[in-house]
Amino acid sequence: MSTEEIDDVRKASAEGFASADQIFHPSTDFVQKARVQGLDGYRALYERSIQDLDGFWGDEASQLHWFERWSAVLDESRKPFFRWFVDGKTNIAYNCLDAQIAKGLGDKTAIVYEAEPTEAGSASEIRKITYRELLSEVCRFANVLKGLGLKKGDTVAIYMPMVPELAIAVLACARIGVIHSVVFGGFSAEAIRDRVNDASSKAVITMDGGYRRGKFLALKQTVDEAVAECPSCAHVLVLERHSGKPDPSCQMKPGRDVWYHEAASGVSSECPAEALESNEMLFLLYTSGSTGKPKGIMHSVGGYMVHAYTTNKYSFDLRGDDLFWCTADVGWVTGHTYVVYGPLLNGASVLMYEGAPDAPDFGRFWKIIQDHKVTIFYTAPTAIRAFMKWGDDWLKKHDLSSLRLLGSVGEPINPEAWLWFHKNVGAERCPIVDTWWQTETGGHMITPIPGCTPTKPGSATLPFFGIDAAVLDEHGNETDHGILAIRKPWPGITQGIFGDPQRYIDTYWNRWGGQYYFPGDGAIRDKDGYLWITGRVDDVVNVSGHRIGTAELEAVFIEHEAVAESAVVGVKHELKGQGLMAFVILKSAFAGKVDETDLAKKLNAMVDAKIGKFARPERIVFVPDLPKTRSGKIMRRLLRDISEGRELGNVTTLADPSVVEAIRTKFQSAKA
Ligand code: WTA
Repeated sequence: MSTEEIDDVRKASAEGFASADQIFHPSTDFVQKARVQGLDGYRALYERSIQDLDGFWGDEASQLHWFERWSAVLDESRKPFFRWFVDGKTNIAYNCLDAQIAKGLGDKTAIVYEAEPTEAGSASEIRKITYRELLSEVCRFANVLKGLGLKKGDTVAIYMPMVPELAIAVLACARIGVIHSVVFGGFSAEAIRDRVNDASSKAVITMDGGYRRGKFLALKQTVDEAVAECPSCAHVLVLERHSGKPDPSCQMKPGRDVWYHEAASGVSSECPAEALESNEMLFLLYTSGSTGKPKGIMHSVGGYMVHAYTTNKYSFDLRGDDLFWCTADVGWVTGHTYVVYGPLLNGASVLMYEGAPDAPDFGRFWKIIQDHKVTIFYTAPTAIRAFMKWGDDWLKKHDLSSLRLLGSVGEPINPEAWLWFHKNVGAERCPIVDTWWQTETGGHMITPIPGCTPTKPGSATLPFFGIDAAVLDEHGNETDHGILAIRKPWPGITQGIFGDPQRYIDTYWNRWGGQYYFPGDGAIRDKDGYLWITGRVDDVVNVSGHRIGTAELEAVFIEHEAVAESAVVGVKHELKGQGLMAFVILKSAFAGKVDETDLAKKLNAMVDAKIGKFARPERIVFVPDLPKTRSGKIMRRLLRDISEGRELGNVTTLADPSVVEAIRTKFQSAKA
């Protein structure tokens, strides 16, 4: 494009904005190269995608490899259990690896990995794995899984640190049709146990341990504790974090536990990819809901693949020469879609870093970007707020000029953090894509398209192609300030909740007569049609971008003999976005007779054991009573008001209005 044409596109994007909000227009660089031209280009393709869902998604799917083509792009006959690319046969691992090698990318780096530990004065371990090497490793791994008797349709849990072997394990499962259920490495033994049992996983893949903030975490020990109560789990496949030097604390149970390196020696590095029907299950990923029991969110082979591929391509403008770094752990959906599958489906190079952003110092992420010349950096608002707190000096010490695009995910980003990110990390040059989506959606749903969509700090902007988003009130009428809703199905939509189809319907499809998907988030649509996600409207709290159900914590507390009842609410938190505040009533036999500090410690230890340390509340406040309506419903809104120091809203519906004052007094005295 000529300079004038580029300027025209940029100008056109600037026109027509009604509000006076701060607007950032697509940079010249992006406009020049963009796949879609300007806001008008976005709108044209968006219109087409909505008018002709089948055509849009069919074209995207055609860019991937299918052993057999589909007979229908979308089958809505079993709504809300949609089927995409019906009868199509494919394999996502084949598309990530074999198909890229066939395109000539065999010697290209697929994964750049950096370990956490840094020896004083020397660099940490770095590995670069080409597409060809990755294919061999994945095939070998798949053959080891077969050797353990695992076959298509079986489920396997994976509990590993952020090392390349985690991606390899995931891809190996996908290659042979074994369903992977990755459990984030921060979860406790009991949480693993529940997930393994819910899915009847036949094996657990783990590593002796991994590093986090300089500490070696012995993961295998946690798995041992978990699988002691998992009758379905016949094998634990154990990898070594340091080849030839297993962690001495790692005990192997004969008959059950298998060292990966032993099982893999002499095993072939060739393994055909299973041709799977598009609607077979690719993976299960557990996420918190508004009841105590986590939901096993199911994703399909074909639809999920197309969604991951398409969003990674457009939202991140992914190119062959990019080094893409998504800082999420593969234990969460972001790591599934934008560490493992999306980048590899696009033939890009992806960076994996094992550890924490502050190990050994606050400059670690910037050093990684500088050393490896990362071009796209995708992280969470919580991390950005931590970087702000640690100070700009850490950034100034490093050369971040390789960066061309930034992304944010997991929670609403406050404009202040957005602007800091833009100025200090992006040098006012890199567009920011604030991507809204969730475990259930498989991939991006609302996001700017870089080079097209002018951005406003704090807004996820406009829906992705093919995503028909609305803001509704309780009755299903369109409004400017209400609840986010999605009208039409999209390829990455979950296949439902494992073992509980009714819960899927009840949770996501019952709110507006089955006409819309209900994601559980509030939203505002501004004068320009831009969407601003306001946070969860259900009893799920986003702590540092990790979803935690308040009911899950309440279920933990009630197990303690002294606890009569509790209510957990989400409250504003400067760094984490939201934190958890727990209000606990003691049984009368215990009230006033226990040491509250001591009991709070015990309750926290129970949270560590039953969920994981990351789910600990900010505070546990012991209160005489909870604010309830006459029908016995806890008014959580009042607990949030008290926690955030606000004037109390209407209390006239309370059975006993004096309760809130008692709670407030206790809240403040406990704080002092
Ligand atoms: C929140 C993570 C605002 C939201 C991908 C959603 C966001 C939940 C954004 C899903 C964003 C995610 N802006 N809120 N850009 N991205 N969320 O399943 O509340 O771990 O429902 O998926 O995170 O969390 P999940």
